[in-house]
Parts: sequence; C-alpha cells; structure tokens
Amino acid sequence: MARLVRDLGLKTCIEGVVEKLEEDYGRWETFQKSARTANHCELGVVELMPSSTDEEFAFKYVNGHPKNYLHGMSTVMAFGALSDLKTGWPNLLSEMTLLTAIRTAAMSVFAAKHLAKADSTRMAMIGCGAQSEFQIIAFNEILGIREFFVFDTDPHAAAKLKRNLSELNVTICNSIIEAVNGVDIVTTCTADKTKATILTGSMIEPGMHINAIGGDCPGKTELAADVLTKGNVYVEYEPQTRVEGDIQQMSADFPVTELWRVLQQPSAGRMSDSEVTIYDSVGFALEDFSALRWVYSMCQKHAYGEPIDLVPIMPDVKDLYGHSGLVRSLV
Ligand SMILES: NC(=O)c1ccc[n+]([C@@H]2O[C@H](COP(=O)([O-])OP(=O)(O)OC[C@H]3O[C@@H](n4cnc5c(N)ncnc54)[C@H](O)[C@@H]3O)[C@@H](O)[C@H]2O)c1
Repeated sequence: MARLVRDLGLKTCIEGVVEKLEEDYGRWETFQKSARTANHCELGVVELMPSSTDEEFAFKYVNGHPKNYLHGMSTVMAFGALSDLKTGWPNLLSEMTLLTAIRTAAMSVFAAKHLAKADSTRMAMIGCGAQSEFQIIAFNEILGIREFFVFDTDPHAAAKLKRNLSELNVTICNSIIEAVNGVDIVTTCTADKTKATILTGSMIEPGMHINAIGGDCPGKTELAADVLTKGNVYVEYEPQTRVEGDIQQMSADFPVTELWRVLQQPSAGRMSDSEVTIYDSVGFALEDFSALRWVYSMCQKHAYGEPIDLVPIMPDVKDLYGHSGLVRSLV
C-alpha cells in the first residue's frame, strides 16, 4: 500500500477514493447497510464493518485503542477484504491502516466540499496523530485550504506534523482556543476514551464547518453538547452514529441529516455563509467498501499486489479432505 501511495502520490490516491465515494454515496439505496459490530474493553474496541451491493461485499477489521502508543502500537490498525457476493470468492485481501487514513481524509473533504463555505482558506487541526497529515494534505490539495493552525496535548505530535509538512503553512498553537480563532474549518481528530470537550459552544464562530472525526465510540466524544445545537448536524448512517457519534449525548429525536441526502438534494446542505455545519463522523462501512474498490482497481490497472493461496483451488471441490493430504495410508 505504501508503495502504491508513493508511486501515485497521496493527492491522486485521495482523489481516487473521493471518486469512488461519490459513486457509492450516489447509489446509497442499493447498499445492504448495517451498523458495525463492536467488541469493547476498558482500553478500546475491535470492530467489524461489513457492507455490500448486489454484486460485491467488503468488510474491514479495525481497532481503536488510544493508549496503544504506550506499547509501540498504533491507536488504529486495520485490514479488510473485497469479494464477489454472488459466489463469495475473495478478490482482494488488503492492509487498511494506511488506507483508513486515506479514506477518512477523502470522506472529510467529500463532506466539506458540500458543507463548508466555498471560499474557506483556514483550518484548525486539533489532534496531530496518525490521521492528521492525511487530513491536512486532503484539505490543502483538494479544497485549497492554505493555512493550518494545529494543537495537540503532546508537543512531540505537533512538532512531528510540522516537520512532515514543512512545505505547508502550519502554525503550532498553544491552546485549542488559539487554534480555532478565526478559522473556516475545525477538524477534531483526538483519541481519548472519554467524554472529552475539545470544542465548546463559545469557540464556534458564524460560518464554521466542524469536521469531528475522533468521537466515534460509546463514551468517546469530542464536542460539548452546546456545539451540536449551533447548526445542522450531518451524519453518515444514522443508526450507527446515534450510538457512536458525538450525538450520543443528545436525545433520540435530535435532528440530523444523512450525508447522502445532501448529494441528492443540495438544499439539505449549507444555505448561507453564516450558518454553522457539523459533520459528526464515525466512519461507515460503505466508505471502506469504496476504498477497497479503489485499491482493487489500482491493483488491476498497475499490477500491484500478489496472488496468495487464501482459499483452496481443487480439481474436485468436494474433496477438501483428499486435497489437504489427510487420506491415511493403509500400510
Ligand atoms: N471517523 C472516522 O472515520 C475515523 C477514522 C480513523 C480514526 N478515527 C478516530 O480519530 C482519532 C485519531 O486517530 P489517530 O489514528 O490520529 O490517533 P492517534 O492516537 O495517532 O492521535 C491522536 C492524537 O490526539 C491527541 N490528543 C488526545 N487528547 C487530546 C486533547 N484533549 N487535545 C488535543 N489533542 C489530544 C493525542 O496526543 C494524539 O497525538 C481516534 O479517536 C480514532 O478513533 C476516526
């Protein structure tokens, strides 16, 4: 995956995934959709994320363990597969840690393209971990955001981001309030298994678009409740976000709009430069389906990847026992 991304360039990869997202969100009704299954423990979660059309099936295995850095492991690690739904034949087994960062950045710009002010130029980035550079590059290269104001409670993470993106206009800030002051877009991308208040209502300015990525599990939020009442809230798949998103704090009838509706009916999106828009992102299986479709198309076009013996190919498909060399000799 890293070779593919280096060869094609990150911008091309994010654009490729955005294209697939547009196709798949455009045929939302044709998907078999479900909220992901999540197995929790005190330190984190492991999730399985399936989705399909009538033709193709995809799933992602992904974890979320904010304290994993203490053990030399990433907060988010993932892999996944794409298969033919008509036969169940697996076509692709793929790494998805890097791919998740790419698809999450693609999804953020996909949402912001429809929800943020068209003339946005300044973004705050709260949380400078594994996802952060991908977010900033996507917003810079695809939406033309030119100035970035970043903050992390870990100064090493903020310094790492600035070093990695030395060609961009990145300012390290001393507080969240300093970072969000006067920006058009705020991306929150922190990891902490708690009801955090990264943003409060008093920090929100007219016209802001909030791209809230890190609140994505029961008991793990980033926005104070008074942020969510500042403007319209957009979600990926309502049944999943009600449980996992920042809106888990609100009543069951708190109004939200699923993003696919904005594609079909632009009047469901931003209507004026002064309104606040909030994308309460949790990550939905359809997006991983789109990302895997993109990887598979790249593998076919550019001959990346390699064949592996994941399932048996047998001359007699009913003779698994014999094919596996388990027939015992009588002598
Ligand atoms: N919505 C989605 O589709 C999606 C996709 C991928 C990851 N995520 C979530 O995004 C978050 C970030 O993922 P990552 O891989 O970058 O994690 P990471 O652990 O690599 O980085 C998180 C950063 O947040 C910082 N942080 C924690 N609390 C903070 C606070 N109060 N203020 C400022 N900074 C703070 C940490 O110091 C760390 O540098 C995670 O919560 C993850 O679950 C969501």
